[in-house]
Amino acid sequence: MVACGRRFGKTETGKILLTEQALRGARCWWLAPTFQMSGQVWRDLKALVLGTITNVTVSETEKRMDFPGGGMMAIRSTHVAQNLRGMGLDFAVLDEAAFMEPTVWPEVVRPMLLERRGGALFLSSPNGLNWFHDLYQLGLDPMQDEWRSFQFTSYDNPLIAPDEIDNLRRNTPERVWREEYMAEFIADSGQVFRNVRAAASILSSGAQPVYGRQYIAGLDWGKENDSTVIVIIDAETRQMVDMDRFNQIGWELQRGHVATMCAKWQPSMVWAEANSIGAPNIEALQAEGLPVQAFTTTARSKQSIIEGLALAIERGEIGLLADDVLLGELAAYTLRRLPGGGYQYGAPSGLHDDCVIALALAWHGVRHGGARISFA
Ligand SMILES: Nc1ncnc2c1ncn2[C@@H]1O[C@H](COP(=O)(O)OP(=O)(O)OP(=O)(O)O)[C@@H](O)[C@H]1O
Ligand SMILES: [Mg+2]
Repeated sequence: MVACGRRFGKTETGKILLTEQALRGARCWWLAPTFQMSGQVWRDLKALVLGTITNVTVSETEKRMDFPGGGMMAIRSTHVAQNLRGMGLDFAVLDEAAFMEPTVWPEVVRPMLLERRGGALFLSSPNGLNWFHDLYQLGLDPMQDEWRSFQFTSYDNPLIAPDEIDNLRRNTPERVWREEYMAEFIADSGQVFRNVRAAASILSSGAQPVYGRQYIAGLDWGKENDSTVIVIIDAETRQMVDMDRFNQIGWELQRGHVATMCAKWQPSMVWAEANSIGAPNIEALQAEGLPVQAFTTTARSKQSIIEGLALAIERGEIGLLADDVLLGELAAYTLRRLPGGGYQYGAPSGLHDDCVIALALAWHGVRHGGARISFA
């Protein structure tokens, strides 16, 4: 069981061990949680093996290589675990194991190792306290002499300069950092925003504009049953000064609400979600002379604004209105790590995130002013 930080060298270690085993005549499997990851490893291993070893037979359809001495390696993705059936194995590598279904090891891989008393190497960054954590605990127990556990952080890769990892830390929320880079096992609530209560320092929503101050707005359009939300932040004090939520009153009336907020606060920029219904509404507001900047939400751009907001709240750099709906949405907002290494942010199903997005957009505006940001 090897719990490692990102970029430690998990995949590289696995490829080296797998090749060594196959050269010694072992029958081996490489398992990855997604088709995309198994495809990458297949290409890498093929290049490595075919570039150094002669008389290897390759089957592209099976993603399998047979070695002259009887050894074999096959690459598999575990995303459809039922399809994973095979013969006895001597060795299996489970890369990013913590992102595989809990059934893969006990129901598929372990039985295949039984008859030949095969071994397995689990490589992963932790993913909460799931099955990978349970097996890792097993390996820490000296009485369990068939299991051993190791833990390495991203800093343990001597080929990566420590200051590059330090840089990553500055832009990574604490929980993600500890789990993904320090390889710590932490209870996975999936919660994104921490210290929300401490940041919710503004109890009254009766603030009035102060002459000479710069205000930035964030605007998220309601879809179907959601609300449209506009949030105003004072760019100087970094305090949220106003928020308005409304729904199901027709787009023209909704734009009217936005225009009223703008008339009051005179924001230097309104960062507005541009997807689907956003675009025509943004054009209409711009036509009225409002300083509206379209923000196109992609997985990447969303990650950026959400992590920016999470860091600010965590560090107490932003003051929030103690609004129950807003605080509820912040508390429920979750992060799910995807097997390929990316993240998915969102409200749990059935809950809304309009206030969160409007706030994140306003905060994005405070940090970046009116400049256009490219996420390419
Ligand atoms: N033994 C090694 N020899 C040479 N380079 C290595 C070795 N181990 C790792 N590296 C290099 O370190 C980097 C990270 O390695 P690798 O992709 O294996 O890490 P990882 O832990 O699987 O990362 P990720 O979390 O992104 O999957 C790569 O550039 C790889 O080439
Ligand atoms: Mg890897």
